[in-house]
Amino acid sequence: MDTVMEHIKKVFIDLKRNNQKITMLTCYDYCFSKLMDGLVDLILIGDSMGMVVYGDKNTKDVTIEMMERHTKAVARGAKRSHVVADMPINTYNSPDDAVFNARKLIEAGASSVKIEGNWPGVVSALNRNNIPVMGHIGLTPQSAEKYCVQGKSPEDAQRIIEEAVSLEEAGCYSIVLECVPKDLAKQITEKISIPTIGIGAGVYCDGQVLVTQDMLGLFVDLRLKFLKKYGDVGEEIKKAVNSYANEVKAGKFPTDEHSFN
Ligand code: KIV
Repeated sequence: MDTVMEHIKKVFIDLKRNNQKITMLTCYDYCFSKLMDGLVDLILIGDSMGMVVYGDKNTKDVTIEMMERHTKAVARGAKRSHVVADMPINTYNSPDDAVFNARKLIEAGASSVKIEGNWPGVVSALNRNNIPVMGHIGLTPQSAEKYCVQGKSPEDAQRIIEEAVSLEEAGCYSIVLECVPKDLAKQITEKISIPTIGIGAGVYCDGQVLVTQDMLGLFVDLRLKFLKKYGDVGEEIKKAVNSYANEVKAGKFPTDEHSFN
């Protein structure tokens, strides 16, 4: 019988083989998790949480304790989508560290973990412990000095291709490609048998991920070329908050209808 890890690998490789695009969105709390559960294939507790939820300027201050807490909340709301949790910076510097910290995220309710960069030894160690791993290459915010397109020079492109192959061989079940030219993403997608999930990686990936707050128009700190907005929820929230505040100030809310006798 397949282990959980083998099963997950098969499911995602089959989606790729059958040309079924894979959908992933980030999520950091119970409320959003309940709303999006079953509507996307994967829900990612991304360490982008540092910026989106905590207002940090990058993802580098996110800790394993924060990820555990938010993974628990998201996992409670997600009954159908696959829940994958980011391993924060400095939690997988060695295979032993990686296994120790990934177990915390799995115990918190994640079904797999995501790591940034080419760490084949870490991926194999996690797999040996039955923990499925999603890779993440191209722009890797945990180590990036500047957020910009990666793999533009032939040498960089070749390095990223080699990283993708190395991560597949090590045992990843899929790989996020962040901010790379679309032709490089195409080459990688065609070369490996596990799915690529793009963000700023063009049209040829096997799947797509966005930060939910970005695509809903909730997070206004960033302007990104690769982003498409699917809603203006931020404006809706402002309207609702404004109406509430105006009604309370005008004595229109609460009324008798909202009162206990
Ligand atoms: O942390 C995150 O949100 C991510 C996605 C951008 C892939 O890693």
